[in-house]
Amino acid sequence: MPWTKTQLNESIKKIIGDRLLIIASNREPYIHTYKEGKVEYIRPIGGAVTALDPVMRVTKGTWVAYGSGNADKDVVDKKNEVKVPPENPKYKLRRIWLSKDEENGYYYGYSNKAMWPLCHMAYTRPAFDDVDWAYYKIVNQKFADTILDIVKDQKAFVWIQDYHLLLLSKLLKEKNKNLITAHFLHIPWPNPEAFRICPQKNEILEGLLSNNLLGFHIRYHCSNFMETVKLEMEARIDTERTSVVYGGHETLVRAFPISVDFAEISEQAESKEVKSAMKKLRHEFSIENDVFIMVGLDRIDYTKGIVEKIRAVDRFFEKFPEYKGKVTFIQKGGLSRMHIPEYKELNDTLNRLVEEVNWKHSTEKWYPILLIRRHMSRTGIIALYKMANACLVSPLHDGMNLVCKEFIATKNDLNGVLILSQFTGAARELDDAIFVNPYDRENFAIMLKEAVELPDSKKKKRMKRLRSVVKENNIYKWAGKFLEELKKI
Ligand code: G6P
Repeated sequence: MPWTKTQLNESIKKIIGDRLLIIASNREPYIHTYKEGKVEYIRPIGGAVTALDPVMRVTKGTWVAYGSGNADKDVVDKKNEVKVPPENPKYKLRRIWLSKDEENGYYYGYSNKAMWPLCHMAYTRPAFDDVDWAYYKIVNQKFADTILDIVKDQKAFVWIQDYHLLLLSKLLKEKNKNLITAHFLHIPWPNPEAFRICPQKNEILEGLLSNNLLGFHIRYHCSNFMETVKLEMEARIDTERTSVVYGGHETLVRAFPISVDFAEISEQAESKEVKSAMKKLRHEFSIENDVFIMVGLDRIDYTKGIVEKIRAVDRFFEKFPEYKGKVTFIQKGGLSRMHIPEYKELNDTLNRLVEEVNWKHSTEKWYPILLIRRHMSRTGIIALYKMANACLVSPLHDGMNLVCKEFIATKNDLNGVLILSQFTGAARELDDAIFVNPYDRENFAIMLKEAVELPDSKKKKRMKRLRSVVKENNIYKWAGKFLEELKKI
């Protein structure tokens, strides 16, 4: 039986007991903004928030994150806290404020110009800047001070998320040895040869090795991490316990493939709201009922392989022109990290490329590619998945990728094909996808044809198996398994 919210709740009571539960991440789960003078909120895109919000609704702890919305300050109380989800509050969000210099150095700088490309190894050179590093340390300290202020002398478990807060555990434990800390990395961990170029590698590894538990999506990232430690640190690797002992302190290293709230998405996909959103989208894009729709949903990021995907779609129509007018590719792209030149350039490249491909293949009534830029509500996104005959997920390197799991969860009628890059963490679980190497344009185009032509019975069989994997390994199981591991500490 798949894990449920109730089961996770019971498990948490047993494991966490009377400890406070605190989650720390850079990105907040709800961003308050002003629109036409009124306060609104948006749910940011990105794997970490998608996965953790349903968990926090059950566990009811405090989530500490950077307040990035222009209305964020106006909705918090004196402690900088606000209850969320706004429409049905379940847990506390404690916001941290960053100055422009801090945001530039810590977020745009060290986190996203150094660590992000370093860990993804997608041919974008990491840039290590001393000033960025200084701000990275300052902001990690800010998170530590805020968390210590929340905890005071209570018992607590701090669950740290991702590459923005790699030093946090050490900073917390220097002040409060009784804290239990665990860190989950939502991105890949590179091999030791790639990581060794990082000038701050020792401080980063020491930060991570202060945790009691360290989680990655897949075993391969765990072994990369252990190999890195072996190469860089005077530490003992315990292969039997899969742990590292450094300075007399043990850190367990484990793989926990992250997931989505399968049951909720699947239920939402049948709602009236989603059905009417589907109608509206078809109308907005003037798509005929018999057109085969492929969708892609990505943050505009060079690791996501969006350019490669569009080139493959272009090649598909070159090679198989009989599909002109019969297949449409809808790409939803969310703008991201736009103050970093590589992201801005990528965005410009995409605009140019889509324009070129559309010019080359379009007919009077049909465009091969529709690029959606506007923000879409959750209902709109689920409608997009549901109306798609295929989902194209083609990152050059991705820790897990939750878009493919969300797509699968909406396909209650089994009518959908998943085309998945072999370089995602998800590829290790989702055997029934059609796999592509995004760097291999020719084969990618052929795989697109295979997806379009896949007979109904095969399509349904594959989707059935994909659904049983995601249903079983849902987000509650991920959180439950992670927390159960704490018993071994
Ligand atoms: C990835 C990271 C998350 C991050 C998300 C969105 O999934 O692992 O930590 O929140 O991208 O990126 P952003 O920079 O907008 O938070």
